[in-house]
Amino acid sequence: MFLGQKCHKRRVFNTRWHRLVGNQSKQIYVIIMLINITTMVITAIQVKARVPGSIYSDLRREGVLKESLLSGDNDLKYRWVSYDNWTFERTFNVDEKILSKQYVYLLANGIDTVSEVTVNGRLIGRTDNQFIRYKWDVKHVLKVGQNTVRVSIQSAPLYSMQKSKEYKEKYKYEVYPCTKTDNNECNYDFIRKMAASYSWDW
Ligand SMILES: *[C@@H]1O[C@H](CO)[C@@H](O)[C@H](O)[C@H]1NC(C)=O
Repeated sequence: MFLGQKCHKRRVFNTRWHRLVGNQSKQIYVIIMLINITTMVITAIQVKARVPGSIYSDLRREGVLKESLLSGDNDLKYRWVSYDNWTFERTFNVDEKILSKQYVYLLANGIDTVSEVTVNGRLIGRTDNQFIRYKWDVKHVLKVGQNTVRVSIQSAPLYSMQKSKEYKEKYKYEVYPCTKTDNNECNYDFIRKMAASYSWDW
């Protein structure tokens, strides 16, 4: 684990990839990735991540968050986590057999929520919906040997705040005026993400 000042933050995948041979007649090779994560920080932190999992449980397990998120006012104390961007990264090996297939897909069963996905530094997709599955053909960016996949996740509350601002500027109308009544986050209307992230149910 690395704790520093204002550097780039990065998190490292620490999960197994599940490789499944799909429909043989079409020669599809599918790599399944399970992701279920949230958002981010102010200082540079690098910890091992579990996927599927959550940024909060990773930071708690690695000792960055000292107490349970759910006790006392820790949801407020640990709010900085959701205001930073978090990046998940891992390496995986590809052999010639995989590359001999016509298609090689990267399948994300869930990414929470707004992210850019790169493989070997090449952008292969963007996400903005926690509730759907994403699949990208990645054959053209893969190489024999070690490859790197990176999922750079943007702060959800800051993203939705920005979207709300853009909407207001464009239509001169605020869809759902934000009222901070119970330490909630605002602008939930502008993101496809579970409601609980914005304090509903807390
Ligand atoms: C997080 O990402 C957004 C979008 O790329 C960027 O505007 C913002 O400055 C980033 N925040 C931090 C703390 O790096």
